[in-house]
Amino acid sequence: MTYITHSQQETEQLGERVARALPAGGVVLALYGELGAGKTAFVRGLARGLGVTDAVTSPTFTIVNELAGERELFHFDMYRLNSSDELFDIGWEDYLARGGVCAVEWSENVPEAFDGTEIRVRLEKTGSGAREITVEGVEIC
Ligand SMILES: Nc1ncnc2c1ncn2[C@@H]1O[C@H](COP(=O)(O)OP(=O)(O)O)[C@@H](O)[C@H]1O
Ligand SMILES: [Mg+2]
Repeated sequence: MTYITHSQQETEQLGERVARALPAGGVVLALYGELGAGKTAFVRGLARGLGVTDAVTSPTFTIVNELAGERELFHFDMYRLNSSDELFDIGWEDYLARGGVCAVEWSENVPEAFDGTEIRVRLEKTGSGAREITVEGVEIC
């Protein structure tokens, strides 16, 4: 399903709606889109929908931020990763086993992280302030 948002707030709201529609248990959410597309904004909304009160910031320098809420949120930024070895070095498989929600920015860099069961979110700039956001793998109500 494709959505158009016209502001950061609308992108956050879409993230919040997706959070509410997620199945129970471990979930992987792969985000795709260039710098400034709105990936972190989407994750901020996702966090709100998961009852996370910790602030969502860009994890660029840490690769992963662990956020506690009604459900745990592991917020990854794979911008600096360029091999699957590094992915396993950061403990990707351990995070998967923990049963939380793994939201991954720059999924383009780690195709080997995904097995086809992930939820995919593609964000594209279509004008100043407008974003086309395609969500696959979950039905939003
Ligand atoms: N419709 C929109 N959705 C999300 N962000 C938007 C939108 N329109 C403008 N912006 C701006 O684009 C930037 C998106 O930043 P961010 O979420 O950090 O992107 P990314 O994580 O993809 O690099 C913010 O400065 C935000 O204010
Ligand atoms: Mg970001």
